Amino acid sequence: MSVLADTLRGVHLTRLALTDFRCYAAVDVPLEPGVTIFGGANGEGKTNLVEAVGYAATLTSHRAAQDAPLIRAGAEQAIIRAAISTSANDALVEIELNAGRANRVRLNRAPLTRPREVLGVLRTVLFAPEDLALVKGDPGERRRFLDDLLVAMAPRYAAVRADYERVVKQRTALLKSAGPKGGPKGNRQSREAVTATLDVWDAHLARTGAELLVAREHLVQALRPHVERAYLAVAGDGRGPAEIAYRRSFEAPDELAGSGRQDGAADGGPAETPDVIHRARATESHGDRVRAAERSLRAALLEVRSSELDRGVCLAGPHRDELELSVRALPARGYASHGESWSLALALRLASFDLLRSGREDPVLILDDVFAELDAGRRERLATLVATAEQVLVTAAVPADVPPILTGRHFTVAAGALTDAP
Ligand SMILES: Nc1ncnc2c1ncn2[C@@H]1O[C@H](COP(=O)(O)OP(=O)(O)OP(=O)(O)O)[C@@H](O)[C@H]1O
Ligand SMILES: [Mg+2]
Repeated sequence: MSVLADTLRGVHLTRLALTDFRCYAAVDVPLEPGVTIFGGANGEGKTNLVEAVGYAATLTSHRAAQDAPLIRAGAEQAIIRAAISTSANDALVEIELNAGRANRVRLNRAPLTRPREVLGVLRTVLFAPEDLALVKGDPGERRRFLDDLLVAMAPRYAAVRADYERVVKQRTALLKSAGPKGGPKGNRQSREAVTATLDVWDAHLARTGAELLVAREHLVQALRPHVERAYLAVAGDGRGPAEIAYRRSFEAPDELAGSGRQDGAADGGPAETPDVIHRARATESHGDRVRAAERSLRAALLEVRSSELDRGVCLAGPHRDELELSVRALPARGYASHGESWSLALALRLASFDLLRSGREDPVLILDDVFAELDAGRRERLATLVATAEQVLVTAAVPADVPPILTGRHFTVAAGALTDAP
């Protein structure tokens, strides 16, 4: 054990209280470090509990895109209260989810101007059956995975992400307003007007987009070795390698013409040898990389402008990038077996946990119904890997599915109430 691990206690919840959240009219759960298991039949409210914990950490649900389903049917408002203990201090996060009105968040009883100021107070890593979509689903799932992790690592990216999403939305609306090519003549005028305004939006998109995508690239680089290790740990030795790579949706024209490298410092200087490029890259600062990405993205936007106007969509930028996943050099999506896909999804979460805890306090680990999905070998290996976390919250319809190494307090959830299990 390193000194760091000894001195840094993890973050843990000491209490979770819910009012009119999902199926709970009112529930108040005392929590301790270590493992807590929530057992109970299907549909009794196990996932609802851990969903609330995840919401307190991220301000989103891992399974509902909107907040409305989180408010108990017939109620106007749901409240999540989470009491958190860290090595430095205690914190109380209170979230009010309002039907048809803005949500409100209080930290230690003080209202926050912006809900997202609460991000980072509680950090969680949540494993759920829905994670299979990380591997099998659309690229948007993987982008969301990266952005969520980015925000958990550095909460200031919540603002970058929100800005970027807003810019893409507004720029798309502008492109659509130009109307299709060969459309009614009246559109011609508007196309010219749109083109003039587009320059401004290109600059916005390139600036915020570059910041987001360079951060994602850094993140993927940091995550890669953790994913490789976690995959072997879950799937078993000799089953890998599992690899991840970030792929941009665009290449800037000057990069295409040049050496084919990803981030171009190519401002028309003298021809460089690969060795020089390599060294230049190694010394490139974060700011340099962002500026280079911004230039590339702007150039790419000019290249695709006419197709964008024809189609009414933003064709270049991090909203179209991909986190590529592969197992034994084949793309995971479409090639990996069901079991391999599961192992890879678990590896992505475990790697997130490793990265979040390195040099900092452990995030709270949440395992929602994952053991039921795994064979005995992977169950044991996963349980062993997570058993060292400061706090682990586990849900299981069949408690016997939870490996014995994860022992701790055991609640039974039934009809929106909790009792101590025998
Ligand atoms: N907004 C809501 N208002 C009232 N009840 C709700 C609301 N949202 C969900 N529920 C109820 O909560 C229950 C689902 O709870 P939950 O998903 O936590 O079950 P679970 O114990 O995890 O079950 P499983 O073992 O099948 O995963 C369902 O019965 C559902 O009808
Ligand atoms: Mg469930």
